[in-house]
Amino acid sequence: MTTVLKLGGSVVTEKDTPETVDDDALARAAAAVADAEDDVVVVHGGGSFGHHAAAERGVSSTEGTRSAADTVAIHGAMGRLNRAVLDALHEAGVEALPVRPLSVASRDTEGELSLPTGSVATMLEEGFTPVLHGDGVAHAGAGVTITSGDDLVVAIARGLSVDRVGLCSTVPGVLDGEGDVVERIERFSDVADAVGASEATDVTGGMAAKVETLLGLSAPAHVFGPDGLAAFLAGGSPGTVVDGRD
Ligand code: IPE
Repeated sequence: MTTVLKLGGSVVTEKDTPETVDDDALARAAAAVADAEDDVVVVHGGGSFGHHAAAERGVSSTEGTRSAADTVAIHGAMGRLNRAVLDALHEAGVEALPVRPLSVASRDTEGELSLPTGSVATMLEEGFTPVLHGDGVAHAGAGVTITSGDDLVVAIARGLSVDRVGLCSTVPGVLDGEGDVVERIERFSDVADAVGASEATDVTGGMAAKVETLLGLSAPAHVFGPDGLAAFLAGGSPGTVVDGRD
């Protein structure tokens, strides 16, 4: 069985202080990955590394740059976070290897992401844990734009045969209008009123788009907070299950 896990940037970094890792949270996440039964593909977000670097340069998922220096600066910030994530995983006994999207992924004029997954598949077969991250990616007609960890999770779920998808962020699940966690979402109309409203977003989008995308996957997706991570990797269903399969 293969699980794709996104670790939100705000779970493993201190989002308000530039380039600061939350060492304790990262160590806890790494220990949970080490204990997982399934093969795991890890994808991490940008947190205080990528988002600061991108925002300073006016780059987002829609606003591109044609500056190689700006691209390399954003990629470099993500590389420093990726190194910290790899170190924590190695410390926990996980044979983690980096897979860096700038070098291999691209987006077409519609923004659709294409990510070759051959290296990820072979790493898994050979017992390694691939670790990808949100990154700047060449984007037809726009230069380089930001691709989020969530988009990469979706591309991996589509490109590989994946059994479960997990999105670990700082919220405990998809919340309804009262702020309670919705247990299960099978169609967008279940939650359109609650998640359709405008909400605080970062450079790469909000909850409504996330739910719609997850509903289109051929594997169930779980949305949960840091407290749910160990349970999810042990096969449980903390937070919200988003399952749009017939
Ligand atoms: C953003 O990735 C990556 C960059 C800004 C380069 P995400 O959008 O997945 O990051 P988080 O999880 O929100 O921090």
